Amino acid sequence: MSESPFAVEMNDVVIRFPGVLANDHVNFTLRQGEIHALLGENGAGKSTLMNALAGLYRPTSGTIRINGELVNFSSPKDAIAKGIGMVHQHFMLVPTQTVTENILLGLDQPRFFMRLKEYDQKVLALQDQFGLRVDPTAKIWQLSVGEQQRVEILKTLYRGANILIMDEPTAVLAPQEIDDLIETMRSMVAQGKSIVFISHKLQEVTAVADRVTVLRKGKVTAEGVSIAGMTKRDLAQLMVGRDVVFSVAKKPQKPGDVVLSLKDVHAENNKGVPALRGVNLEVRQGEILGIAGVSGNGQSELAEVITGMRPCQGSILINGEDVANQPPIVSIRSGVAHVPEDRTHVGSAPNLSITDNTIMKAYREQPVAKGWSVDFTYARENARKLKRAYEILAPSVETMARKLSGGNLQKVILAREISIEPRLMVAVQPTRGLDVGAIEAIQTLILAQRESGTAVLLVSEELEELLSLSDRIAVIYEGEIMGIVPNENADVEELGLMMTGSHLEDIRKQKAASDAGRVTS
Ligand SMILES: Nc1ncnc2c1ncn2[C@@H]1O[C@H](COP(=O)(O)OP(=O)(O)OP(=O)(O)O)[C@@H](O)[C@H]1O
Ligand SMILES: [Mg+2]
Repeated sequence: MSESPFAVEMNDVVIRFPGVLANDHVNFTLRQGEIHALLGENGAGKSTLMNALAGLYRPTSGTIRINGELVNFSSPKDAIAKGIGMVHQHFMLVPTQTVTENILLGLDQPRFFMRLKEYDQKVLALQDQFGLRVDPTAKIWQLSVGEQQRVEILKTLYRGANILIMDEPTAVLAPQEIDDLIETMRSMVAQGKSIVFISHKLQEVTAVADRVTVLRKGKVTAEGVSIAGMTKRDLAQLMVGRDVVFSVAKKPQKPGDVVLSLKDVHAENNKGVPALRGVNLEVRQGEILGIAGVSGNGQSELAEVITGMRPCQGSILINGEDVANQPPIVSIRSGVAHVPEDRTHVGSAPNLSITDNTIMKAYREQPVAKGWSVDFTYARENARKLKRAYEILAPSVETMARKLSGGNLQKVILAREISIEPRLMVAVQPTRGLDVGAIEAIQTLILAQRESGTAVLLVSEELEELLSLSDRIAVIYEGEIMGIVPNENADVEELGLMMTGSHLEDIRKQKAASDAGRVTS
């Protein structure tokens, strides 16, 4: 029998959840040695389809072939045995154990701890083969998100994976880490592996993928089409079914009074290391202040001290009232909305319904509060309205938050935070993990907040997003503000230098000196 040209063939696959047809007669093929992008709007059914390939779900009907052979997985173990490895968006590592220990975890290696050094060497060899650098003896909690992801990839490779499924691997990575991951993916296919790549970042998709399959509401709208000659715009059109504008229009507007003012704010991170070192900032009514920087430079801590979730030194004034070190309820009462970075743990209650999640902040106040209790009829009606307005895809407002796709959960949180008509909105990576259509919708909503006079602190790693939304951009590096520039004449090179640790004044001094040098010589 000749070897099949296909690593994977999924035929007529149907996956049904109560009230949801997640995959509707889907055909999907993965060729040997290709990178195949799987695209679609939030909730289109991408993760569900790949979870079935990885043995986590059993299709309601349809067939799966691996290298030409019909398979019927009843657990992830079966899928691993056939060479399938999946890197999920939420990592499944043990924080207190080392890299090597995590890679070996669950394998029947007798007394591996006796020969840990030997296994460290094996892990290093695997790293050399694919260019995935991470210290095998480091503990997981000491690693950055990007390094943890490398451990997840090494783990699948160690188990002999030839077919790798990567579910939004770049959503959590900094730009440099994305470039490194793309290098690794190229090296993997060069060595005969086949990759399914799920991403909402169309730029990356056109750069790295060979073919693309697009899902819309569970159905295939493009099946294994060659990516050659396709633009970002073509892909967006296939996903959303309409034209997408990639930059929203911002109206010129004069900012009003100061709403938020930080003076000499210091704070520590969870490990007790200084994370904010003397931050001074102001945000005015109707103004968006963008915070740029590589993640892990104090952005999360900045949002947390403002919203009362982290102790600090210094003063934080909201409309003149000092809220530093006050419980979150004080900032909520002063009209602060918060879109947190960690939506699954901080932003939402997974086992509560969409309705409950939309009133988590408002249940103490009219119109949701009714005497001592909550007006559930009102709450449900309101949740239905938000579900329509924000196009939240779910069977009903009674659906539990944990059953929502990543992007739809994000929309629930945004809907809740914006509907309290905040004076100040602190938004951390509000469009991360969203599809192109949803990004456009959310950015439009943020601009509408600005127009209605809300002060917005927008933390984002996407420079493009900051440049299209912000009035001013502040760059944070190791807990320090390196400089603040107006958006109109922001210089991308200058922003980049600040993001890697140069102060704005030093950059300008150096530039002046070199310009002067050029004139005199
Ligand atoms: N365990 C589950 N129980 C019930 N419904 C589910 C479950 N898992 C997913 N769904 C539903 O199936 C549909 C497809 O979800 P899926 O997670 O596959 O979307 P996705 O394309 O990966 O979206 P995103 O880009 O937002 O991650 C959604 O409507 C989701 O709510
Ligand atoms: Mg998904």
